[in-house]
Amino acid sequence: MNWNKWIRQFHRWMSILFTLTVVVTFIALTRENPVVWVSYVPLFPLALLFVTGLYLFALPYVLKRRGGERATGEA
Ligand code: HEM
Repeated sequence: MNWNKWIRQFHRWMSILFTLTVVVTFIALTRENPVVWVSYVPLFPLALLFVTGLYLFALPYVLKRRGGERATGEA
């Protein structure tokens, strides 16, 4: 598996982890004694999503510059 595919897969799995942490945060905050620190947990996968997301965003433009036919990033 090449590097670009690996980052796309990583972004995909982080999106699932992020969604789960958001659900857990909802549960933690609706309790009678809210567990507030849990609400910071989604920031970790979100930060990773942000970095890998920017990479995925830039990828087609960088590949296009480097040479045409691989512009989809699928190669
Ligand atoms: C935080 C900033 C984020 C940025 C800058 C970002 C950016 C991107 C970009 C550029 C792509 C590729 C789109 C394409 O090539 O068609 C992508 C794909 C994707 N993003 Fe994000 N994203 C972010 C956050 C998220 C979040 C919060 C989620 C969901 C909870 C998410 C879920 C996905 C999924 C599932 C894909 C498709 C991945 C695949 O091809 O398998 N992203 N994102």
